[in-house]
Amino acid sequence: MIEPAIIKSALRLVLFLFAVLGVSCGEPQSKITMEEAEEIVFSNDVYGQICANCHGGSGEGKGELFSPSIGGLPTWYVKDQLKQFRDSHRGIDPGDIPGQQMRAISLSLTDEQIEEASQLVAAMTPIPTEAPGTEVDIEAGRYFFANQCMECHRYNGKGEVVFHSAPLITLNRSYLLRQLHNYRSGIRGAVGDDIYGNKMVEMTKRLTDEEIKLAVDYIGALAHGDDPRSARER
Ligand code: HEC
Ligand code: HEC
Repeated sequence: MIEPAIIKSALRLVLFLFAVLGVSCGEPQSKITMEEAEEIVFSNDVYGQICANCHGGSGEGKGELFSPSIGGLPTWYVKDQLKQFRDSHRGIDPGDIPGQQMRAISLSLTDEQIEEASQLVAAMTPIPTEAPGTEVDIEAGRYFFANQCMECHRYNGKGEVVFHSAPLITLNRSYLLRQLHNYRSGIRGAVGDDIYGNKMVEMTKRLTDEEIKLAVDYIGALAHGDDPRSARER
């Protein structure tokens, strides 16, 4: 899976050599300067080299590859999850093809690359979860989220570092649905010593398909400014 990155690097190198040759021959119409070419080659960070191939240049994710929108996820969470994959807590179930792909990538990453990638992802503009359709019962979703999810994911769905609970409101809808089903069926989070994943396995065990959909619809509403704080009393 690393091949596209290698091809990209090779292309950048060719571009760079062209630019250098153009400049050194004194060719007046050279389209890019040597400094610009250098920037292309040497700013080639771990995100651009590896992650962008699947998660897109702005961390927007790619539906056809099942890769989530990760732009703006905080450093701690990206680091947490890259290590979850690398430590074989996540992406090891034979039925979890997208997870296995991400795990394969994580195995090639050093601690330094994980640190660098996490910081680059955190600096990207977050992309809000898709808003729910008008047919959705937002009030029911608000009540459900307040009672079932808010305790750990906070009222604003931004997650809580102390609980290692994920920020939810920038993840795309299809990914959120898949993860909740993955926890419920034990594809994710069921490995014995995955204490954080275990919480979500326990949590989702009692949820119906309709409740999972309601939660994800409501996360969309939350991403667009809804507030569940007083829903417990409603
Ligand atoms: C081969 C494609 C591919 C590459 C390359 C790749 N990813 Fe992924 N990534 C995925 C897929 C697919 C998933 C969804 C896994 C799942 O469904 O559990 C994922 C999931 C993730 C998640 C979990 C998000 C969450 O909310 O829990 C993070 C974080 C992540 N990737 C970061 C990265 C970073 C950083 C890089 C570069 C070092 C990278 N990925 C490279 C395909 C890729
Ligand atoms: C007891 C605390 C707790 C409760 C309650 C809880 N969560 Fe979680 N949730 C977590 C933790 C911890 C994680 C990170 C697990 C991991 O690393 O796999 C998580 C992860 C997730 C993820 C995966 C996000 C990602 O980036 O891949 C989703 C989606 C999610 N929770 C949704 C919900 C929803 C919806 C509810 C309510 C129905 C809920 N959670 C209730 C603690 C909780």
